[in-house]
Amino acid sequence: MSIPDLPETPPTPMPVTAAPNWSWVPIRSLGPRHRERITAHLLLLETSDRYFRFGYSATDAQISKYVDMLDFEQDEVFGIFSRRLELIAMAHLAHSVAAPKKDSPAMSEFGVSVLPTARKRGFGRRLFEHATLHARNRGVETLLIHALSENTAMLKIARNAGATVVREGSESDAWLKLPPDTFASHVDELVGHQAAELDYRLKVRARQVSGLLDAIGEVKTSLGKTSKVAEE
Ligand SMILES: CC(C)(COP(=O)(O)OP(=O)(O)OC[C@H]1O[C@@H](n2cnc3c(N)ncnc32)[C@H](O)[C@@H]1OP(=O)(O)O)[C@@H](O)C(=O)NCCC(=O)NCCS
Repeated sequence: MSIPDLPETPPTPMPVTAAPNWSWVPIRSLGPRHRERITAHLLLLETSDRYFRFGYSATDAQISKYVDMLDFEQDEVFGIFSRRLELIAMAHLAHSVAAPKKDSPAMSEFGVSVLPTARKRGFGRRLFEHATLHARNRGVETLLIHALSENTAMLKIARNAGATVVREGSESDAWLKLPPDTFASHVDELVGHQAAELDYRLKVRARQVSGLLDAIGEVKTSLGKTSKVAEE
């Protein structure tokens, strides 16, 4: 599939500057130390979701291999964690994609997955917006989303952002031309990163406090039982 002529500016405003009903979703940048969590997340996807995500029904072994091969230096991986620190949604922004022609502008490919229990809450869209911000801040001019034509949700996210969708039978490519980076787009990225890190640390602390309270509760219960036995 060759890159189509893309409109100079997306028909809808870029999501980075849009978002009237904005509510913040913490999105963290993931690194090599997150491989285990990424694997656990992807293994929770059912066969049909794996087919949508990878274009084939990836086996557990193929998923492990994919995660092992993730290049966190070259590419970017983002995640959304639940309060229990489960990775409920993640996206892979592959900067290593070869441009279709020698002189074609820099482009990156976006792939995403949201656990079934966390769907239809806007996480897929948020990860896409986050990825477009990071891509434009790295000088990427075009974002590619390769999806099955029946993947309504993914194609909707792409179309809503102004992407041009080219369908070839059962497969579709969505191309989104990105605006150049600005001072504001870099500030957006920095602020988002720091806020997400803070959110994660607060969740870790909350888990620790909750674990401590559980342990105190257990000690209290067993002490109560012991003193009851002693009284008898
Ligand atoms: C595609 C996927 C990431 C969407 O995640 P999500 O968090 O549920 O998506 P959102 O809540 O952000 O919804 C985005 C849009 O798609 C629509 N949508 C969501 N699920 C839908 C569905 N099953 N059918 C039709 N539309 C759907 C939403 O209404 C929303 O549109 P709107 O903004 O116009 O209202 C998720 O379904 C998934 O992980 N699928 C398996 C893997 C996959 O397909 N990856 C994409 C290929 S790389």
